[in-house]
Amino acid sequence: MSKWFYWNTALFFMVIVQVVTHFTFPTLSLPIIFGFIGFLFFLFNWTRNAVFSTIRNIDNRKTKIKLANLSKKVMPFHRYTGTTALVFIMMHVFFIVNWYGFSFNNIKMIFGLLAFINLIFMVLTGWWRLVKPTGKLRRIHLRLGISLFILITLHVLF
Ligand code: HEM
Repeated sequence: MSKWFYWNTALFFMVIVQVVTHFTFPTLSLPIIFGFIGFLFFLFNWTRNAVFSTIRNIDNRKTKIKLANLSKKVMPFHRYTGTTALVFIMMHVFFIVNWYGFSFNNIKMIFGLLAFINLIFMVLTGWWRLVKPTGKLRRIHLRLGISLFILITLHVLF
């Protein structure tokens, strides 16, 4: 199994802990709800990377085919799930900035902003691959995914 499954699971539980320990829990405020849903859409798409890297590394042919078929089923929605993540995160940002304002002295906001910009490029390169499916664009899209994962981890951690 790919190490990404463990990293994704770790981030998932970290976000759950942050959400359930939030002072508004169990009611939850709009920014938290939108941030959490946007995060779930991102994680769903990013898990595809974990599945792909398992397919590449696993020896068992049966499991390889099973995972490849599963990935193929989800693939037609990949761009839409990614775009949906961006729409939810836009609402998250809208409510955050409306309620709290924006401060460059707030480390959570800085990492959030960097993750947001990264997510925009992630979605753009995802759609761009439809027009120009090159290996270079595939690598850029993948690297943007890795940096987005790191930035979201830092955003949620601080
Ligand atoms: C890809 C982009 C983003 C994702 C996936 C994301 C996700 C989340 C999640 C899941 C939470 C709830 C957990 C927690 O409190 O740590 C959260 C909280 C928060 N986010 Fe984001 N966020 C993003 C971008 C941003 C941006 C751009 C900003 C600032 C403009 C921001 C500001 C905040 C703040 C201030 C909180 C805490 C709110 C509170 O405690 O009431 N986020 N975010």
